[in-house]
Amino acid sequence: DKGTYPHYMLKEIDEQPAVMRKIIQAYQDENDQLTIDSSILDALESADRLYIIAAGTSYHAGLIGKEYLEKMAGIPVEVHVASEFGYNMPLLSEKPLFIFISQSGETADSRQVLVRIKELGHSSLTVTNVAGSTLSREADHTLLLYAGPEIAVASTKAYTAQLAVLAILASVTAERRGREIGFDLIQEMGIVANAIQAQVDMKEELEKLAADFLSTTRNCFFIGRLMDYFVGLEGALKLKEISYIQAEGFAGGELKHGTIALIEEGTPVIALATQESVNLNIRGNVKEVAARGAHTCIISMEGLNEEGDSHVLPKVHELLTPIVSVIPLQLISYYAALHRDCDVDKPRNLAKSVTVE
Ligand code: M6R
Repeated sequence: DKGTYPHYMLKEIDEQPAVMRKIIQAYQDENDQLTIDSSILDALESADRLYIIAAGTSYHAGLIGKEYLEKMAGIPVEVHVASEFGYNMPLLSEKPLFIFISQSGETADSRQVLVRIKELGHSSLTVTNVAGSTLSREADHTLLLYAGPEIAVASTKAYTAQLAVLAILASVTAERRGREIGFDLIQEMGIVANAIQAQVDMKEELEKLAADFLSTTRNCFFIGRLMDYFVGLEGALKLKEISYIQAEGFAGGELKHGTIALIEEGTPVIALATQESVNLNIRGNVKEVAARGAHTCIISMEGLNEEGDSHVLPKVHELLTPIVSVIPLQLISYYAALHRDCDVDKPRNLAKSVTVE
C-alpha cells in the first residue's frame, strides 16, 4: 500500500533512513556488535577470490561492494554482469566464492550462473531482499537486505540496502581477519541515515534541479571518479529507466577519450564530487565540458564543496558516500519522470523482476 504517496518510488525513497536503521539492528548481536553468520564468514575466509554476479542496479551495488570487500576485508573481488558471465566464464581462481546480489532473488540471468557454478562445485552466497526466493533457496548461504517489499520497478531502497549489507559483511570479515578498518561502522551508518533523511527532506530543491536540467533535454551525462563513477552509472540507469532520457555515466577521465564529442550547447552534465583524492580532477572535467557549452551541475560533499556547486551533501565517511550521493540522483530522476508525464512506477517495456533470459 502506498498510503498517501502518489507513487511507490517516492515512498521507497523516503523509507531509506528507516531501512538503514533496520539493517543495523538486524545485524547487531546482544552486545551491540555487528555480526554475520559464522558459516558465511568461514566461506569468505576459505575463498581466495570473490565473484560478484548481478544485473542492473544490483550490479552497480556490486561495483561498490567490491570496494568495501577489498578495502576493508582485503579479499580480491571481481564483479560481473550475470548475462555475460553465463556465456563467457573467465578463468576462475582456485577457491572462488560466488556472491549473487539480487533484490528479487528471481533474476534468470543470475540464476543461470548459479546453476553453472554449482555444477562446478563452487560455493555461493545470495544477498537478497526476498527470503525464500529462488537464488536464496539454491545458494549455500543467504544475507537478507531487510528493505521491506520494493514495488516500484526502479530500484531505490534495495540499492542502498545492498550497499549497507555489503559494508557490514566487509567490516565483520575484516574484524575476523584481524584487519583494522579505522572507523565504527555502526556509528557511521547512523550518520549516513541522518544524511539520507536530510536529502529526502530537500525534495523541493531537488525537484527544481530536475526542472532546470532535465525537463526538455534529450540526453544527460553523469560523470564521477572512483566510487562517484559507479554511483553515476546508477544515476544514469535510474534516469533512463523512468524518464526515457538517454543517460550515460562516465568516468571523468574517460571523457576526453571520446564522449566529450557529444557535448553540445546546453547538454546536461551532472558531476559527483565526494572523493577527496580526485576532487580537483573531477572539477577539471566539469570545466572541460562547461567550456564546450554543457549545462553543468555539481553535487559535492561538505568539506569538498566550492562556491557555485548545485547541491552539497552532508559529510559522511568517504567509503559510505555512495549510500548518500545516490539519493539526490533518485529524486532527480523521479521528478524528471514526473515532469515528463511518465508512468513512474511502471515504466514502459520493463518488469520488476526479470525471470526470462
Ligand atoms: O531483482 P534484481 O536485483 O536481481 O534485479 C536486477 C535488475 O533487473 C534491476 O536492478 C533493474 O536494473 C532495476 N529495474 C533497476 O532500477
